[in-house]
Amino acid sequence: MAIAQSERIDVRPLSAHTGAEVLGIDLRDALNDRAARVELKRAFADHSVIAIRDQKLNAQQFYDAGEIFGEIFPQHNPRFSVPDCPLVHYISNLDRYEDGRVYIPGEGYHTDHSNDAVPPKATMLFAVKLPKTGGDTQFINMHRAYDTLPVAVKRRIEDLQCVHVYQSKYSERKLMTLADEKKAFSLKQVIHPMVRTHPITGKKALYINPIRIESILGMQNEDAQKLLNELLEHSIDLSNEYRHKWRSGDVVIWDNRCLMHKANGDYPVEELRYLYRLMIKGEVPV
Ligand code: SIN
Repeated sequence: MAIAQSERIDVRPLSAHTGAEVLGIDLRDALNDRAARVELKRAFADHSVIAIRDQKLNAQQFYDAGEIFGEIFPQHNPRFSVPDCPLVHYISNLDRYEDGRVYIPGEGYHTDHSNDAVPPKATMLFAVKLPKTGGDTQFINMHRAYDTLPVAVKRRIEDLQCVHVYQSKYSERKLMTLADEKKAFSLKQVIHPMVRTHPITGKKALYINPIRIESILGMQNEDAQKLLNELLEHSIDLSNEYRHKWRSGDVVIWDNRCLMHKANGDYPVEELRYLYRLMIKGEVPV
């Protein structure tokens, strides 16, 4: 008798606190296998980042796999849409800034689209083409970052509210210009708590984003930037990190509600790094 896919799924932690690899599943079959979908969602909830190995997906199949985790979130810059499947975007080192420099999407720590009133709960990538070395994605566990703060700092930040915009004027990373029809959107401000509670686990996480946070309500900008920089330095301690080394065929999905992440452009520029990208709708941060 054939063994059900859900019984073949093997979930193996990739670090002591964050990340697991998932083996023995083909996402094309999981769509029609309720038990397998439940296992995948459990692995995601338990580990915050999962790497589902050895997948063979086209853009539409990747989209369908994304729906296992929730409704697909429309991304902000449609210039990165995959033509035959526009809600799937691509990440590629072939894109250039207007001045000709290579654009590495996702460089610099951040959490995705926090300038949205209802930011995506998760982001999912599929490695289509990878450089021979480098191009890892670093993840920071923001529950641990919060938990390890001194009590006095926790008290100080507990009720702080941060103003998020498309591109903070303090951000070291410059984002790609938005298309004209999206320009108004780039001026929009949204306010989110600096400490948010995970809707599934009830655990608190620091919710900061150096690319998007422009100010903190009721605080001078200089003081706000000093505090944000201190919190960032504290968070990115290696003890809070899981660093994902990509393998061809990896589908990686991570939880934006309790992680920051960043891409690395540390590979030869002539080697293509190309991934599909999707986001999953989330909830208002509280
Ligand atoms: C991202 O920030 O979504 C991209 C991460 C990566 O390319 O490693």
